[in-house]
Amino acid sequence: MPKILLLQASARSDGNTHQIVQALRKQLDFDVIDLKTKHIEPYSYERENQSDDFLPIMRAFIEQYDVLILATPVYWYSMSGVLKNFLDRLTDCISIEKQLGRKLRGKQLASLSCGSDGIEVEGFHTPFRLTAEYLDMEYIGSVHTWIAETDIEEEVLARITEFAEQVNVRLNAKN
Ligand SMILES: Cc1cc2nc3c(=O)[nH]c(=O)nc-3n(C[C@H](O)[C@H](O)[C@H](O)COP(=O)(O)O)c2cc1C
Repeated sequence: MPKILLLQASARSDGNTHQIVQALRKQLDFDVIDLKTKHIEPYSYERENQSDDFLPIMRAFIEQYDVLILATPVYWYSMSGVLKNFLDRLTDCISIEKQLGRKLRGKQLASLSCGSDGIEVEGFHTPFRLTAEYLDMEYIGSVHTWIAETDIEEEVLARITEFAEQVNVRLNAKN
């Protein structure tokens, strides 16, 4: 069975993105790493950040998983800061840790956004698709979700179901 790792990239561990991730978990089997509990330094040309949690997370993904789901809240029409830091650090995987970068080839990537309404920012998921393409990973889809008040609306639940199905179809097609 292919294994899925989801990175939860919110500025709070138990917020809206977490709620959406929990709803997705009822339909898709995956492990979660909460980046809020990890130390991810920004990219550094001077490589001053090599003892933070980035490389251990990437190594764990490469060794143990087939699919990466990036789950981010919408902050100022874009991904969260911690996820941007994480993506910037992928540069380490094509420079100082090239063997690691090569092992990303063929793995699958998907992205999930959680905002406060149903309006998906144009091009929000483009960086994830292009990053996957650049790293020779297979981009298997995206979903935009939201929590307006406190509960997950029916339409959002339907989107989560559709996304889970889409991921499963792509997993089964490959394996
Ligand atoms: C710093 C910040 C910026 C935000 N910017 C946006 C935005 O541009 N568009 C939007 O729809 N919601 C925006 N929101 C609302 C969040 O996307 C929304 O409440 C989301 O569900 C929060 O998820 P979280 O609890 O995991 O942080 C913003 C919230 C914060 C804290």
